[in-house]
Amino acid sequence: MQELEIRTDNITAAPDPQLIPNAPLVGNALQMAKDPGAFFIEMYQKYGPIFRIKILNKTYTVLAGPEANIFMSRHSSEFLRSKEFWQAMVEEFGASKLLVAEDGESHKRLRGVMQRGFARSALNGRYDEVFAITDRILTEEWPDKAEIPVVRAMQKLVTEQLGYITANRSAGEYVDDIRTFIKRVLDVRITHQRPGLMMYLPDYKKAKGRFFELGQDVLENYQANPDKPTLLIDDLLAASEADAVFMPQSDLVGVVLSPYIAGLDTVANTTASFVYAVLKHPDVLAKLQEEVDRIFAAGTPTPQTLKRDMPILYGALMETLRMYPIAVAAMRNATQDFVFQGHRVYAGEPLYMATAVSHFLPEFYPDPYTFDIERYQRPRAEHRQPGAYAPFGLGPHTCLGAGMAEVLMMLGMGRLFHQLDLVLSPPDYKLKLDVAPTPGPELKFKVLVKGRRQETVRETAVSSPN
Ligand code: HEM
Repeated sequence: MQELEIRTDNITAAPDPQLIPNAPLVGNALQMAKDPGAFFIEMYQKYGPIFRIKILNKTYTVLAGPEANIFMSRHSSEFLRSKEFWQAMVEEFGASKLLVAEDGESHKRLRGVMQRGFARSALNGRYDEVFAITDRILTEEWPDKAEIPVVRAMQKLVTEQLGYITANRSAGEYVDDIRTFIKRVLDVRITHQRPGLMMYLPDYKKAKGRFFELGQDVLENYQANPDKPTLLIDDLLAASEADAVFMPQSDLVGVVLSPYIAGLDTVANTTASFVYAVLKHPDVLAKLQEEVDRIFAAGTPTPQTLKRDMPILYGALMETLRMYPIAVAAMRNATQDFVFQGHRVYAGEPLYMATAVSHFLPEFYPDPYTFDIERYQRPRAEHRQPGAYAPFGLGPHTCLGAGMAEVLMMLGMGRLFHQLDLVLSPPDYKLKLDVAPTPGPELKFKVLVKGRRQETVRETAVSSPN
């Protein structure tokens, strides 16, 4: 890794970043469409922490690797802005603002309002509810001998979990509408990977209508049942009452659904990758089953138990987030001219901040393509090296729901492997990724439910001569 060099003096003398080789007309669009994560790693290794790519007729500067990550954690507010990239999402929401698209003081203030509702601690005392939701879904939707398409099953699970935790209601029948709405906005208006015409198709209009219908319904249902408060909606309503210019009523419908916007595909894709990685590594599977059987036999885990006594579950999750990152890069615009690692960045230009490149560098993670769940334990603690680990992003826009996501995923995956005996289907299946708009396992990825582990444990106990 190079020493971090950022400066705002003598800018004009600095050369532009190198434009990497690209094909006529399409530029680097094919590499980006196939696997942007792998593409950024290869380019970082060849060209260093700053280079330019071309997608169709547009040129982008990419800042990559630990240098970019350290820069992002330390200097985001001085040099980077999110607004331009996300503005189209704000427009589609018909909102005055959205957290991802705010910067500076206004971002800080809005984040402050939403903080409690998204925090890890919002789940304290509610682990039993998460287990009940998970167990119900495993009973209803994961029958014995069935082949389960994992990504779809995880979408269903996380929709139920987030719905009950943040809004007191299941959003089950709306899950496809939420995904169609968000995915279309991301594909067409944010990442420009699909033609603009797709915003006029009837399926999009219907999904958008139903998305806002759900938001309205969540708010009405909430106000009709004041005995069941949730931190997120309480805090949003209080902020709107205190300052309707800052938080107009019309923003609330979209904001109450923000856990789905930010949490649905991210958690679903990560947990689907978790299932794959664990089933691909029988040694990890055996250790995980031993751990969850032992810890759950002693009762519902607490926040302390999860952190302190479940190193296998935690290590497997951390390693999944490293090897299967759902965000390989964050988009930003430069707020001013500056020099990064000797090269010039221009005010206003769009930047790819390739945050996940570090996850695959052998100087941080020896044997980086090996799923090794012990990397996170001291004294190794490989993720703690500066700039090495960024699955939840970096800087002021770091995932607000990271703590909640971590707990939900540990509880959900713990329960899944505690309850069910699963195998990959076919057993030699090798994971393929879909990349647009959020990288994750392909929809065809399936597992077979061989049986219920707890029944097997009970039956063995009953039939045992001892
Ligand atoms: C595996 C799970 C998740 C991953 C890997 C993840 C990752 C990320 C990343 C990389 C960002 C930063 C985007 C950027 O810098 O432009 C982000 C932002 C955000 N995430 Fe997550 N996320 C996850 C789950 C969740 C969940 C479950 C929630 C809510 C319940 C959530 C809420 C948010 C919010 C509100 C932001 C915007 C923060 C801001 O702009 O200040 N995320 N997430």
